[in-house]
Amino acid sequence: MTEAVETVNVALGARAYDVRIGAGLLDRAGAEVAPLLRRPRLAIVTDDNVGRLHLAPLVAALTAQIPGLTVSTLTLPAGEATKGWPEFSRTVEWLLAERIERRDIVVALGGGVIGDLVGFAAAVLRRGVRFVQIPTSLLAQVDSSVGGKTGINSTHGKNLVGAFHQPALVLADIAVLDTLPSRDFLAGYGEVAKYGLLGDAAFFDWLEREGPALAGGDRAGRLKAVARSVEMKAGIVARDETEEGERALLNLGHTFCHALEAATGYSDRLLHGEGVAIGCALAFELSARLGLCAQEEPSRVRAHLRAMGMKVDLSDIPGELPDADELLQLMAQDKKVQDGRLRFILARGIGQAFVADDVPGGVVRGLLADALAGR
Ligand code: GLY
Repeated sequence: MTEAVETVNVALGARAYDVRIGAGLLDRAGAEVAPLLRRPRLAIVTDDNVGRLHLAPLVAALTAQIPGLTVSTLTLPAGEATKGWPEFSRTVEWLLAERIERRDIVVALGGGVIGDLVGFAAAVLRRGVRFVQIPTSLLAQVDSSVGGKTGINSTHGKNLVGAFHQPALVLADIAVLDTLPSRDFLAGYGEVAKYGLLGDAAFFDWLEREGPALAGGDRAGRLKAVARSVEMKAGIVARDETEEGERALLNLGHTFCHALEAATGYSDRLLHGEGVAIGCALAFELSARLGLCAQEEPSRVRAHLRAMGMKVDLSDIPGELPDADELLQLMAQDKKVQDGRLRFILARGIGQAFVADDVPGGVVRGLLADALAGR
């Protein structure tokens, strides 16, 4: 039986592209990618975790479905440490050594680290080569593979070096999510919940009902959750590609998250999506304290995350955390701070997020102090 595939178009004029979402897309990647090729030549970059599971089947599908195809592959070490200058320059030099040209396609097979790094390599290689994202984590499928943000980390901070470079196609194969450890799946789910919280209350209602089943493996639920998330992101990106306004809403929960990630050393203590979920709960609590939404709203956010078995409170993060002042300081170093003012994405209710500048520091400090004390 052919499984259902949803297609979401990212409407960016001459740079528009499709995000194809469904189970089994990896097995027919050749047929999906073939229309983009000007000659039968591809380079694939992956990491050793993803490569072990998915590289050979992908290469087999591509070579079986594209006559005369030559494929080169590069496998990088898995992990956030890869997303820096050394592996980036290694990738670019490798693509040049493989004589990948502007008419060719570079494929990023992996999670957010690979997608961001390979997208940036494609952006600068010969002043811009087309690339295809094949995201293998839930987080990459619903967020980082769509929208053209590419880049690497610097010693000065995360994602500080990069380019907007839209992919030519995204293939989100939801069957590969079956191979994810539950913790990674749930971390990605933090970004899924974020879409409901920022702009679609009915989607959040649906997640409250169906979330546990889709976390348990329900394919139809996963398809809908990924497709709706991508649809929301595609709409926002099409209206505000370079984050002059509305795109900032995608950062709901992220100012808190970035401070917590910095405080935990970007380690296994807190995955990015876990930080986003905790950050969303804190953003709703902050909104309630500022009188912007009813207290029931943060309670509902927390109840759903709890029902999903996710981290919700600061006490769910193992080990010591810095005090409220230090966390506030880490937020002030977030790159989204403009003119020295703290900027938050707040909400007037579930599905009603907006950008708020000049949030009183004292309220944020009080919120963090209470959260650290478990109040
Ligand atoms: N991950 C946020 C964005 O793509 O804008």
